[in-house]
Amino acid sequence: MSKLVRGFRDIFEPQSNLFTELENCARGVLRRYGFSELRLPTVEQKELFVKSTGETTDIVQKEMYSFEDAGHRQLAIRPEGTPGVVRAYLENNFTQAAPVQKFYYIGNMFRAERPQAGRYREFEQIGAESIGNSAPAADAEMILMLKDIVSAFGAKNYSVKINSLGCDKCRPLYRQALIDFLSQEKDTLCENCQTRLEKNPLRVLDCKVDGPRFSGRVPTMTLCPECQAHFEEVQCLLKGKIDFMVDPMLVRGLDYYSRTVFEFQAGDTSQNAIAAGGRYDGLIKSMGGPATPAVGWAMGVERVIASRGEVPVPPQKSVYVASLGPACHEPAFNLMQALRQAGVRTEGGLFDKNAKGQMKQANRCGAAYALILGEDELAKQEVTLKDLTSGEQKQLPLATIVQEVKKLV
Ligand code: HAM
Repeated sequence: MSKLVRGFRDIFEPQSNLFTELENCARGVLRRYGFSELRLPTVEQKELFVKSTGETTDIVQKEMYSFEDAGHRQLAIRPEGTPGVVRAYLENNFTQAAPVQKFYYIGNMFRAERPQAGRYREFEQIGAESIGNSAPAADAEMILMLKDIVSAFGAKNYSVKINSLGCDKCRPLYRQALIDFLSQEKDTLCENCQTRLEKNPLRVLDCKVDGPRFSGRVPTMTLCPECQAHFEEVQCLLKGKIDFMVDPMLVRGLDYYSRTVFEFQAGDTSQNAIAAGGRYDGLIKSMGGPATPAVGWAMGVERVIASRGEVPVPPQKSVYVASLGPACHEPAFNLMQALRQAGVRTEGGLFDKNAKGQMKQANRCGAAYALILGEDELAKQEVTLKDLTSGEQKQLPLATIVQEVKKLV
């Protein structure tokens, strides 16, 4: 018998209901903020992620599921949504027709990370990208929209950290300062970080092996006056609307960020980020488009759900239809369909089983009521309605039963 692949999961009810609940909650808020849904493909060219997520990132170096297809194309199963959104934006010529766009996406992402609690190889992200607005208001709007979603869903005990990674003007100085600092400890760095030190020293800080031990010790970035003013304005717009703290160690694990970055964190494990994002003003240009600012985030659906803790889901009331003889099968089946058309959650149809077997199934599937159609009932054009909690039962006319049941469930 085939087994589930490590790091992947089957998600049954009631757990799967929580995904739908969060998705619905997010859709409502996202629409209120003027975002429209973009359904992205799961597979993209591998090069898209190498060039955007970044070739020195853990995601691309170690975690991406990539393969060659029968046509010898180098492809990858998406580890994140942002590069796909930018590709779609450029490929569909939004730059010309309507450069300011706000998209959201909901979908599964794939990263071959070491599986542990809250870290899966297939996980769901809800993401949002605001393209074409460089104003600090766009950053603040994104952070507040994220807060609106997680609080509407009921997530608790999370903290919000923000930082600014500066721009092409402030970055080279900081890069050098980091190289100087990290070079002193070069021999103790993991093999990957030894290479990263020269190519992309910022990545050393979010390395799962080396990153944590530099916390609080590395030099902090001095922003250029424009980036400083931008960051101050973002903070000013957020003040009083959300609790947040500035964390100079927050560097994020993807290459495309500039200026504002942020994380919503719950707990203090390395899987504590329930959602994260930032500004990526250089990405669209680096992918062949015109210089276009952008800011976005993605939440880890499983992590947001876990941060809310156990909330009992009220059982949805359903009705079970049983048929007690061959002559009753068709009317019982028609009754099931009529109930469903009227919006009632209806189970049944196990007409090959005897009365006892059908009632056992009615209890097993958690139905609140059973509708029993036997030959006596059929002759009188009636149906027996049984309350499966109290055991009480009564006869009701078949003609009006759908309306009666609708009142009960
Ligand atoms: P990210 O930080 O790589 O950013 O992922 C965003 C969120 O996805 C994380 O905060 C976490 O909640 C969830 N997540 C990531 N990896 C896993 C995993 N293995 N298992 C469970 N959950 C996970 C991005 O993906 C960027 N695209 C966000 C963004 C959008 N930045 C700008 N626009």
